[in-house]
Amino acid sequence: MASSEGLQIRQLHDSYVCEVAGLDLSKPLSDATFNRIQDALHQYGVVVIPRANLPDDKAHVEFSRRFGEVEKSKYRSPHMRPLPYAEIFDISNLDEKGEVVTNSNEKRITAIRGNSLWHADGSFNPRRTYVSMLRAVELPPASTGGPTEYADARQAYEDLPEETKARIKDLVAVHSFLHNRQTANPDSPLFKGRSVYDEPLARYRLVTIHEPSGRPMLYVTSYAHHIEGMPVEEGQKLLRELTEHITQPKYVFTHEWQNKGDAVIWDNTAVLHRATPGSYEGKYVRDMRRTCVMDSGKGAYGLNSPEDAKNQRNSS
Ligand code: OGA
Ligand code: MN
Repeated sequence: MASSEGLQIRQLHDSYVCEVAGLDLSKPLSDATFNRIQDALHQYGVVVIPRANLPDDKAHVEFSRRFGEVEKSKYRSPHMRPLPYAEIFDISNLDEKGEVVTNSNEKRITAIRGNSLWHADGSFNPRRTYVSMLRAVELPPASTGGPTEYADARQAYEDLPEETKARIKDLVAVHSFLHNRQTANPDSPLFKGRSVYDEPLARYRLVTIHEPSGRPMLYVTSYAHHIEGMPVEEGQKLLRELTEHITQPKYVFTHEWQNKGDAVIWDNTAVLHRATPGSYEGKYVRDMRRTCVMDSGKGAYGLNSPEDAKNQRNSS
């Protein structure tokens, strides 16, 4: 238990994830307290803030700015609610009229399914995402599902056999937004017949260094389509094996959302995450809103051109 200005930090999993208690984000936050939170994020990868008490979208955006450049959505789908802040991503299960989406809403359902595969936000972009902050505005009834799961991709790297570390050291994965959607929705007419090679691709090393801690991370996400310089099948087999390794139960933390106003912050350059299904789907409101902070570190652009990042798509 460490404390700074009344903050209590408690580790929730053997290797990562902490909970911060005693934090009221409706009040001004000193730099010392903010730094304590950011240090915890770098150390633990995931910071859970029960009853964070962010009063509204504006406060959510302003708090997120302290981590860096907050991503603005360039495009708001007509199938989403017209939320006033371009920095707020709608992660809810609500349609443009504020009604719970059902299976007949192909556009939204396919995106929700894509989100249920392990990923790091924005890994398909030439400039990747650093921090994401997700806040619960309205939750479905308890025990109807919808927890968010995390996987410790730094510990998973550390535990790899030395020969695997040597084998993957210089490998580069090629990421594609379309690949995640096709994997999650093999029969959807929205993605069928499209080729990842006709759409934007982003290149990142399989092993990236988490700069603030200096620890390597397995940057292996469901957007990774193949490995450069390897036959596609062989690369996909390696990607599958590494994903299985990272997402073993011992590396997974399940965050059960409990109260409206709870927030979770995670570092996409250290951990993976995914949404999980539940019986609430199609029935109850799950109104989640997210901000994303762009990576400004040395690995921000991977092996991509910063020029290409100027018109990259929204994080997903
Ligand atoms: C996200 C995300 C998971 C969830 O917000 O980036 O993947 O449980 N959310 O809603
Ligand atoms: Mn996500």
